[in-house]
Amino acid sequence: MATVWNGLSFMFSEDSYMTLMIILAITVLWLFWSVSSYFRDRNQPPLPPGNLGFPFIGQTLEYLSALSTADGLQEWIQKKNDRYGPIFKWRFMGLPMVMMDQPEGNKYIYQNEGTSHHIFWPFTISTLFGPESLLAQSGDQHKLARRYFNKFFDHTAMSRYLPAVNRNAIRHFTKYWQGKDELVALDMTNLYTFSTICKLVLTLEEGPQMDKLLFQLDMWAKGLTSLPINLPGFQYCKALKARKLIWEMLDELLEQRRRELAEDHGSKIDILNNLLTVTDEQGNLLQDSCIKDNLLLLLVAGFDTSSSVLAMAIYYIAKHPHVYEGIVQEHKMILDKKCARGRDDESLTMDDVSAMKYTWRVIKETLRLQPVTVAGYRKTVTNLEYKGYYIPKDWLLVWNQFANYNPEHFEDPLKFDPSRWEKPPALYTYVPFGGGSHMCLGYEFAKMEMLVFIHHLVQHYSWSLLDPNGPIIRDPFPRAFDKTLISVKEIRSF
Ligand code: HEM
Repeated sequence: MATVWNGLSFMFSEDSYMTLMIILAITVLWLFWSVSSYFRDRNQPPLPPGNLGFPFIGQTLEYLSALSTADGLQEWIQKKNDRYGPIFKWRFMGLPMVMMDQPEGNKYIYQNEGTSHHIFWPFTISTLFGPESLLAQSGDQHKLARRYFNKFFDHTAMSRYLPAVNRNAIRHFTKYWQGKDELVALDMTNLYTFSTICKLVLTLEEGPQMDKLLFQLDMWAKGLTSLPINLPGFQYCKALKARKLIWEMLDELLEQRRRELAEDHGSKIDILNNLLTVTDEQGNLLQDSCIKDNLLLLLVAGFDTSSSVLAMAIYYIAKHPHVYEGIVQEHKMILDKKCARGRDDESLTMDDVSAMKYTWRVIKETLRLQPVTVAGYRKTVTNLEYKGYYIPKDWLLVWNQFANYNPEHFEDPLKFDPSRWEKPPALYTYVPFGGGSHMCLGYEFAKMEMLVFIHHLVQHYSWSLLDPNGPIIRDPFPRAFDKTLISVKEIRSF
């Protein structure tokens, strides 16, 4: 009897009573919300088809698992499209979402940025980036900031950065590739793109200071995908601490650069100099907090994105010997032209880079099959109607790269075929760098640093995959399971 009583008293203990009451309250609220929105929306067009599932949880787990593998999101969207059609709704971590159709959905999102919706990042992520980061801003504030930043990243600016990027590529190959038989390509491309972005942004050389920065950025990045618990020992808390330490390092660099600027009036060609000297219409300099939030953004956005693409390009080129031959021929022609003009060295001009057309097609094809960013999120700022569906305020719209695998837009879509880029794709079907006002700021830079890397790679090395049939995963960007482990042969020394 006593045992039964103990059991009952456990069942009706204060804690379990509270839990029961919370579940009951959530269920009543949910029912109330569903019934009231039914009556409220009777005169509205219908919501997009799909299933929001249970409050908060919705389809959180299946969406997270879809995002974690290379083909996962593509398969998940296909399943939903088969069931509900090209536009559908679901719920992720409490947020109702609408997957937009392709390519019209991408066009709608990019063209109506700032009027029907704004960029959206979960609070935990925007806190890690900081409130003045371009990525966290929207509307007029974002437009104004992009006006400054675009100038530092347009095609003309690239000719100023090219010599340093080229020198860094040569240094990278002579230091890390020469004399090696086997290499992990992703480790190499990580080293190259991180040293390149550090040069572009801060003129920071490889050494202890760069290693310290990389360590803290790695810690910081882990916070993007961790549970948002800001308590000692938890990853998110460590990421916030890393942000603080990165800010301290940037404070020192800012102070040192201001001293140098006073002495040499800005001999360094980098983003830090630009940010420290640019003024608005009233002649005001940027606040340090704005400079630091955006330096952090550039260091992060410009590092493992291009690195993933380069390692995947090395993977696909090795799997397609005729593509390797095509690239080798292109770069031989560039060298021949250089020699004919008396430039018998490793230097590169913007004209040389512009001539790397086939190589760029190879990179575009790599990005089509393995996009770095598979989807982007926007939050509606008003109730809206899209293609006969009603989408309430505060829902999320999702643009995506699913058209990449659609045979209507890309013939034989799973085939790696750079020649398909001889013709331009239909508008908004191919958006590896996003679009609209938040389109990738570093597009021109990423293109240049990747082409320069491949230029030196194919002139000096041939390579093959040690595991050509290994799977491709997302971590969070695409990579071969073995990080593209290659055997390397030097064909010409530097
Ligand atoms: C192959 C490499 C890269 C890819 C595929 C890529 C892709 C993207 C995409 C898809 C977005 C838009 C996100 C959205 O609209 O939701 C974006 C934004 C951005 N990217 Fe890149 N990116 C690359 C390299 C770079 C590099 C090298 C830099 C810096 C030098 C950079 C800086 C940025 C910045 C600052 C933004 C935010 C722009 C804004 O919100 O106004 N990216 N990138």
